[in-house]
Amino acid sequence: MQLTLDRLTKQYGDKTALDRIDAVFRPGIYGLLGANGAGKTTLMRLVCDILKPTSGEVAFNGTNIRDLGERYRSVIGYLPQDFGYYPNFTAMNFLLYMASLKGLNAGYAKKKSLELLETFGLFAVKDKKIKTFSGGMKRRLGIAQTLLNNPQILILDEPTAGLDPKERVKFRSLLRSFAEDKIVILSTHIVTDVEYIADEILVIKGGTLLKKGAESTILQEIAGKVWECRAAGQEAERLETRFAVCSRKRENGEAVLRIVSDEKPCAAAVSAAPCLEDLYLYYFQREV
Ligand SMILES: Nc1ncnc2c1ncn2[C@@H]1O[C@H](COP(=O)(O)OP(=O)(O)OP(=O)(O)O)[C@@H](O)[C@H]1O
Ligand SMILES: [Mg+2]
Repeated sequence: MQLTLDRLTKQYGDKTALDRIDAVFRPGIYGLLGANGAGKTTLMRLVCDILKPTSGEVAFNGTNIRDLGERYRSVIGYLPQDFGYYPNFTAMNFLLYMASLKGLNAGYAKKKSLELLETFGLFAVKDKKIKTFSGGMKRRLGIAQTLLNNPQILILDEPTAGLDPKERVKFRSLLRSFAEDKIVILSTHIVTDVEYIADEILVIKGGTLLKKGAESTILQEIAGKVWECRAAGQEAERLETRFAVCSRKRENGEAVLRIVSDEKPCAAAVSAAPCLEDLYLYYFQREV
């Protein structure tokens, strides 16, 4: 199974939201990382065949998805970023309703819905109205809904937005369990979400794909550019204004700054092992 993006481009009027993206996806988990407005949602909607590309194409096993039509949409599960829930539906009725929209037969839909409620820890509240659910419970229900049709491709747009740390951990282990043999693409601007879960990371900025690869591979880009500097008073202030500071802590009255920089920021700087958060800052520091 293979999904291919070939010079995929989307313009809204004269605004280029995505610019000639080339990428190949095989079964595995892919993390799409980018700041607000980078083009993540646009890319996902193109992959789900909800938006039409301005030029270029998405191909599934070698065929343009626009030629596959319904045959393609039936292998897709999609959680939109602004997914709307129906507050007065119960969890069970919501899943049955979504299943009917996907054209699944009633017997199968019931069996599958119960199974998913169980998997996502919502079985006990299946007859409760969604308006009584916490954000995390709603999100789990949203993800459950994507799996009703047993999709081969799963597109999750910011699935962890608004989740507390405990729900995040739960999400990651659930994702691992249902990602088997699927192409899963999830977007986030929370670096740690993709750090632990994604087999490959795509860094997207201003509509272009900056990097695609395993974390260890893309981190090589900033090897030797991450520094830890101990400084006090004015020297610390000078470093803060001149360099991209990833984190800061205080030790023995001194500031310890983690800095990403091509050049050594100060004489006492010690080189540190890069992490994904450093890479993100390296690319996006000028945007914040
Ligand atoms: N329907 C639209 N009409 C015009 N411009 C749009 C439309 N949708 C998105 N854009 C623009 O395209 C760019 C990419 O938007 P997109 O929603 O894909 O970004 P994103 O990475 O998902 O951002 P976020 O992290 O905020 O969800 C942005 O500059 C946005 O303003
Ligand atoms: Mg978005």
